[in-house]
Amino acid sequence: MNLTAVYPGTFDPITNGHLDIISRGGTLFDRIIVAILRNPEKDPLFPLEERVDILRSVVGKWPSVVVEAFDGLLVEYARERGAQVIVRGLRALSDFEYEFQMTQMNQRLEPGIQTVFMMPSETYSYVSSRLVKEVARLGGDVTGLVPAEVATRLKRRFAAASGRRTESR
Ligand code: PNS
Repeated sequence: MNLTAVYPGTFDPITNGHLDIISRGGTLFDRIIVAILRNPEKDPLFPLEERVDILRSVVGKWPSVVVEAFDGLLVEYARERGAQVIVRGLRALSDFEYEFQMTQMNQRLEPGIQTVFMMPSETYSYVSSRLVKEVARLGGDVTGLVPAEVATRLKRRFAAASGRRTESR
């Protein structure tokens, strides 16, 4: 059976924890579609187009992985793409409640698509996009937690922001 999985998320920005899940997923599925949510309600640090570019450049070396943006219901998008599985990463107990609710709702909406949870290496069990942004914003080092390209973009982004703040004083 040809198995396609959708790995959805905001990826603002992608971390090495996400990459670890994609790489583990590659051992189980024939094709993984990394699906970036187009969510105008969230106020992302990186615009959608930039997140798509970053992800494509980071996972471009894996032939079975594609990157797309999506909007609307995840299960509808997965169905359109012929995916049988949704992959989500689970780091700690604190992720569980949110993931549990989403999975139950998605099962109700589309019982034919299964959600599979994967855990990243313990090296990344505490890494989140939110924390990475906070550390980078405050001038901390995020090397090893995100792809090098992301670390560079974070530095640039926050250097520009701090330059603007200094100018306006
Ligand atoms: O990285 P995130 O922010 O935890 O990802 C959340 C995501 C994109 C998986 C979730 O918000 C989602 O699936 N949104 C699409 C809209 C949808 O289908 N909502 C009902 C699911 S319960």
